[in-house]
Amino acid sequence: MLIGGGVVVAAGSVGGFIALNGPSEAAREPWKKAGQYADFRRRALSYALLAPNPHNRQPWLVRLEGEDALTLYCDLARRLPATDPFDRQITIGCGAFLELLAKAAAQEGYQTTISPFPEGEDMQSLDQRPVAHVLFTKAGSTPDPLFAHILARRSNKEVYEPKDVAPKVQATPATFAQVKSVIDQRCLSCHGEQVQMKNVRLDTPESIKLHAQNVYQQVSVTQQMPMNNVTGITPEERQWVASWYLAGAKVEP
Ligand code: HEC
Repeated sequence: MLIGGGVVVAAGSVGGFIALNGPSEAAREPWKKAGQYADFRRRALSYALLAPNPHNRQPWLVRLEGEDALTLYCDLARRLPATDPFDRQITIGCGAFLELLAKAAAQEGYQTTISPFPEGEDMQSLDQRPVAHVLFTKAGSTPDPLFAHILARRSNKEVYEPKDVAPKVQATPATFAQVKSVIDQRCLSCHGEQVQMKNVRLDTPESIKLHAQNVYQQVSVTQQMPMNNVTGITPEERQWVASWYLAGAKVEP
């Protein structure tokens, strides 16, 4: 596909993934050709177009600019308004494309300066304006070890083994001691002896037991608590509260 007078490298409907049980030869073509073009930008693009993208729509259109730059557009006809009404997924797909482009360029010693939405964006959906402008500079960039995995990406569509996960691999629920230490540090300033917001007091095992369900709701589900997270609870601690509650909210040590 061609935009204006520019050259567009991204191909049409090539396979975007390798399934373990054998993609067709045609689907493998872009993998075989990656890195084999004369222009360094085309070489980098030939890796970028292997990027994962929603429903394998491969929406990228690229215009090469001068000797050292390019502009990325989204092919608006490839959007999926029913499943992706705000173009969120397709935008992430464009981001994955740029990420691979930068890694492939770095592999050859080019730094990329990526300017997202250089002509603005409307925040609701993509439009005909460019998604990004990319400038390449030959400036000794550090190769990224993940580059090696671009060609190795695969998606496993095999049947899973019909056996249970070994008990010791399964997540063990957090202990009451862990949950109590979270509550002591993250909650008591507003739900302790001195202050009891909304009449919720959490400074004894009995009161924690009494409010267990609400604590789980507020901390792990809606994440409304701690209020504005002023006490800095971590995602891991929210997970502890959830695993403790779902395993029966035991309050003995
Ligand atoms: C900075 C103060 C503050 C901190 C810290 C805080 N809370 Fe709260 N909490 C509040 C306030 C204020 C309310 C009342 C909110 C409302 O009425 O909408 C409240 C309400 C609650 C409620 C009752 C919610 C309801 O509507 O039934 C629970 C349960 C609760 N907090 C649990 C916790 C837990 C557990 C923590 C610690 C992980 C925590 N809170 C940390 C201020 C705080």
